[in-house]
Amino acid sequence: MADDVKRHTYFSNPGGYSHAKQDQYKQYLRKLHQDFIESWNEKTEVDGKLSDFEKSRILGTGAFGVVYLVRHTNSGKYYAMKMLEKEKIVKLKQIEHSFYEKKILSGLNFPFVVFMKYFFKDNVYLYYILPFIPGGEMFTHLRKMGKFDESSSKFYGAQVILALEYLHACELVYRDLKPENILIDRTGYIKLTDFGFCKLIQGRTWTLCGTPEYLAPEIILSKGYGMSVDWWSLGILLFEMSAGHPPFYASDPMRIYEKIVSGKYRCPSHFSSELKDLVSHVLQVDTTRRYGNLKDGTLDFKNHKWFREIDWDNLLNSRIPPPFIPKIRSPGDATNFDIFDEEKIKESPVCLFEEEFIDF
Ligand SMILES: Nc1ncnc2c1ncn2[C@@H]1O[C@H](COP(=O)(O)OP(=O)(O)O)[C@@H](O)[C@H]1O
Ligand SMILES: [Mg+2]
Repeated sequence: MADDVKRHTYFSNPGGYSHAKQDQYKQYLRKLHQDFIESWNEKTEVDGKLSDFEKSRILGTGAFGVVYLVRHTNSGKYYAMKMLEKEKIVKLKQIEHSFYEKKILSGLNFPFVVFMKYFFKDNVYLYYILPFIPGGEMFTHLRKMGKFDESSSKFYGAQVILALEYLHACELVYRDLKPENILIDRTGYIKLTDFGFCKLIQGRTWTLCGTPEYLAPEIILSKGYGMSVDWWSLGILLFEMSAGHPPFYASDPMRIYEKIVSGKYRCPSHFSSELKDLVSHVLQVDTTRRYGNLKDGTLDFKNHKWFREIDWDNLLNSRIPPPFIPKIRSPGDATNFDIFDEEKIKESPVCLFEEEFIDF
């Protein structure tokens, strides 16, 4: 007679993420791709104006401008306002990149990436209005804590994988993955921000851009490259989250590049054997051997033993408890961000570079 005591299953993830499940998920991604292309082909409404917003403090600064916390006067809602100075964009030859940034941001629709709510321009600047993500940069939390425990790295890393898989399904290469561009939202889940280097590509592209520690060897070697560069930077991120520092590091960027193309790095001894194994499959100089870039695509991650505890469907639907929930005292609370000095806002009686930005 059968024992009526319930029996435990000794594998938590029987069969892992099956090909059938992945095929179904790909169908969902194809739908998101279609939506993205539709938005790409429409001219986005320039449906905001500066006077609708009250400026509060600075959240971050970059090469072309500043990101402000702003309040939409009518609705009382808070947003992040990325202001890019047209003159700087022209000088640094980034017109095409900022055009892509605008077009891409306005078409994005995925739980782990930001999107653009409004866009406008004036005589001096371009303005991208994004939802305000109040938990701060992953960078700040990572530096404060030194390193994340592996279960936290897993939680964040898995979301980054889904975000990159979504972008790639939309034929977008992201090209600037790093903890500075990963924000923590009020629920403790992530949002990828900064689409300044993101580009729609069919096949290959050649531009050298990104952040030294996160550059893939094929970019450094000036080879044509595709989506594989994002999987490389995922490998760097997985390493950095759990180690507290990136795998290829030096004060001189040239030295960093030498180390990257050599492909040699050392994992800290506290890394689990599963994490070491995963990182070694991602930090493959040879793109034909790199995880993410192989025939099974992201399934290689979804079924890797380091990610055993992750239920990918629950993750997508935010049903996994996050490792921490940021402290947010009020809707416009920006205390999770560093403090910056005030920036001088430029003015001009005439519209600068009108021609160059006519299509924006
Ligand atoms: N939607 C947002 N909510 C909150 N902070 C943001 C948001 N977007 C950007 N930031 C902050 O501004 C910083 C710079 O923005 P980013 O788009 O990365 O510009 P850059 O291209 O200059 O790096 C980010 O690292 C982040 O700290
Ligand atoms: Mg950035």
